[in-house]
Amino acid sequence: MSLEDVLNWVEPESIEASLARQIDFDRLPTHVAMIMDGNGRWAAQRGLPRVQGHSAGIDSVRDVVESSARLGIPVVTLYAFSVENWKRPQNEIKTLMGLLKKYLRLELRTLLKNNIRFQVIGREDELADDVRQELEFAQEETKADTGMVFNIALNYGGRTEIVDAARRAIQSNVRANELDETRFAEFLYTSGQPDPDLLIRTSGEMRVSNFLLWQIAYAEIWVTETLWPDFRCRHLFEALLAYQKRNRRYGGIARPAIVG
Ligand code: FPP
Repeated sequence: MSLEDVLNWVEPESIEASLARQIDFDRLPTHVAMIMDGNGRWAAQRGLPRVQGHSAGIDSVRDVVESSARLGIPVVTLYAFSVENWKRPQNEIKTLMGLLKKYLRLELRTLLKNNIRFQVIGREDELADDVRQELEFAQEETKADTGMVFNIALNYGGRTEIVDAARRAIQSNVRANELDETRFAEFLYTSGQPDPDLLIRTSGEMRVSNFLLWQIAYAEIWVTETLWPDFRCRHLFEALLAYQKRNRRYGGIARPAIVG
């Protein structure tokens, strides 16, 4: 994706166009992970039930997934439902699962059109049969897509993932002296994918909430006060620009600033 392509799909003279002009398209993150937070507060601010916030959040999901694919970001992971979210009221859980099914039914064609491969990360086998069927169908239909990978973290927990990976490693009879970080990562749900370079969290909370604990070891974290249902490609552009200004050291020393 080039700047010219982006300028073709954003409004001319818009904030999006102005932000896009500042992005270095050769230095995009290879994987962007997002904690979609603030749906409940968005609804409360409008005197609406919490579930309306989740419903409005679907428009943000659509915008962010399509924009990321168009930009050429190789992997995007959205945190949709954690292993802890089962503690929420039954009607909220039911709404979230219903929204997910609806999203997949309505958006499958767009995912295919944009060459996006849809993938679930999390304990999918613990989800209800009707939800699993829908997820399996979308994964199967998009499995030959070669563009962006869109991971949706569902019934996901970072610690659970590490436990699941350890179990798989044991089941694969990996010998203890063969097990290093690279080999272990092959047993994670994200096996074969690059680790996130950028972790975005909406609604201002400074937490990682048990999300991709192994994979975010060196991710740059960008937190915005914007609530998830208000998050659009403009905010993604802002995050990308902030990311490109960071000096990533991976535990090493600061690189001297480039002069001239
Ligand atoms: C956090 O907001 C959000 C969630 C737990 C769910 C996010 C899910 C969606 C946006 C829809 C998922 C569907 C697809 C297709 C990805 P919160 O309820 O914790 O907000 P609060 O902190 O303001 O209460």
